[in-house]
Amino acid sequence: MSACRVCGSPIYAFMTFGRMPIANGFLTPKEIPQEHFFELAPAFCDACHMFQLIEQPAPEKMFHGSYAFYSSTSNYMQRHFAEFAGDVMAGVLAGRKDPFVVELGSNDGIMLRHFKNAGIRHLGIEPSQNVADVARTRGINTISEFFAKDLASKVLALHGHADAVLAANVMCHIPDLPAVAEGVRALLKPDGVLIFEDPYLGDMLEKTSYDQIYDEHVFVFSATSVANAFARHGLELIDVIPQKTHGGSMRYVLAPMGSHRASPKVEIRLRWERFWGLDAPTAYQRFKQRCEISRERLMDVLTDLRKRKKRVVGYGATSKSTTVMNYCGMDSSHIEFISDTTPIKHGKLTPGTHIPVRPYEEFVKEYPHYAVLFAWNHGAEIRAKEAAFIASGGKWIHFVPEVKVAA
Ligand code: SAH
Ligand code: TMP
Ligand code: ZN
Repeated sequence: MSACRVCGSPIYAFMTFGRMPIANGFLTPKEIPQEHFFELAPAFCDACHMFQLIEQPAPEKMFHGSYAFYSSTSNYMQRHFAEFAGDVMAGVLAGRKDPFVVELGSNDGIMLRHFKNAGIRHLGIEPSQNVADVARTRGINTISEFFAKDLASKVLALHGHADAVLAANVMCHIPDLPAVAEGVRALLKPDGVLIFEDPYLGDMLEKTSYDQIYDEHVFVFSATSVANAFARHGLELIDVIPQKTHGGSMRYVLAPMGSHRASPKVEIRLRWERFWGLDAPTAYQRFKQRCEISRERLMDVLTDLRKRKKRVVGYGATSKSTTVMNYCGMDSSHIEFISDTTPIKHGKLTPGTHIPVRPYEEFVKEYPHYAVLFAWNHGAEIRAKEAAFIASGGKWIHFVPEVKVAA
């Protein structure tokens, strides 16, 4: 039996998605023989309530000099991070003299550029060189390393304590959460704050969005598990703010124990999570059953369309889609190609299922009959953009929260 990554208690393994490749590991045909696979199996800790993966590939296999995810691809996310930065500047940083902001997983600088433009001292910590280089060319101070306790000491020695440590969609990627919590605690000023956001467990269970489960997401957090994990290192959960991003996320605000007054929203959220049973195994057994039903329905739709010789493509070669395609058992007989706007993915094959990824222009050139909306978390932005696809008679295939074919 495996031990919880946070508290060391035995964890409860309630399902497996089977052998999975690296979710962002788009590859050339030549690379197929060396493709890396691991067992994608989530588990739940009954003691600290952390939802986690039992096995995760080494970080260097996922984050490197040709990391395929560039944050600034989405206009919606650009607006989101402009607001996030604005909130931090107007809130926590207001009235502080020469504040210093550190961001973990700063990627191409989508959020830090706003601090840079405002002349605020900042530092991005971004191990994937290619995306960090984009940030550096934008004049954003960035170091390419993995954040952990040692790096916190190094940053502290070079720059002093931080007023705010920020992180978006990265805290849930880092397997040694206790070391990160220790590092952040050491780096923060006594009245500093840690603000991070990640996909929210409550949304994942409610929408059966099992595609949030992939190699990078070693944790799927709830307010309960975050409060427990960080309290062990002297950080208190003082606010929770739900977000619409990535199919339903939560922003967590933490501060050294006793330095800030906690918002009543924290207690309300903790109670809400108990009410929905996020702290008990039954919720996860039911989730497993819903995943199986979703898989069956989606494959029924695709198999029927294949029989009727309809053209089906995928929209958005997302990391999430790697779980869906591999778990459901899709191949290029179901999906002709995946359309994506990210140049580094073009001409490559999808991890595990080896379906070609092609530029968006190919989707527009000859609309298919159906498109699987893999990038469902950007659904509003995409549907608004693709009126001509629908006008041509095209239909979307949705699978979150339910499998549905619709214009
Ligand atoms: N914050 C951005 C990027 C999220 S993707 C956004 O929300 O869009 C996650 C990023 O975290 C990747 O760029 C990855 O290289 C980086 N990362 C992974 N492990 C990390 C670690 N230990 N410390 C800092 N960054 C890390
Ligand atoms: P994400 O779900 O991890 O943010 O990844 C979104 C992927 O979808 C990324 O590879 C870019 C792609 N994409 C498109 O191809 N077209 C779009 O309109 C949007 C918003 C994303
Ligand atoms: Zn635990």
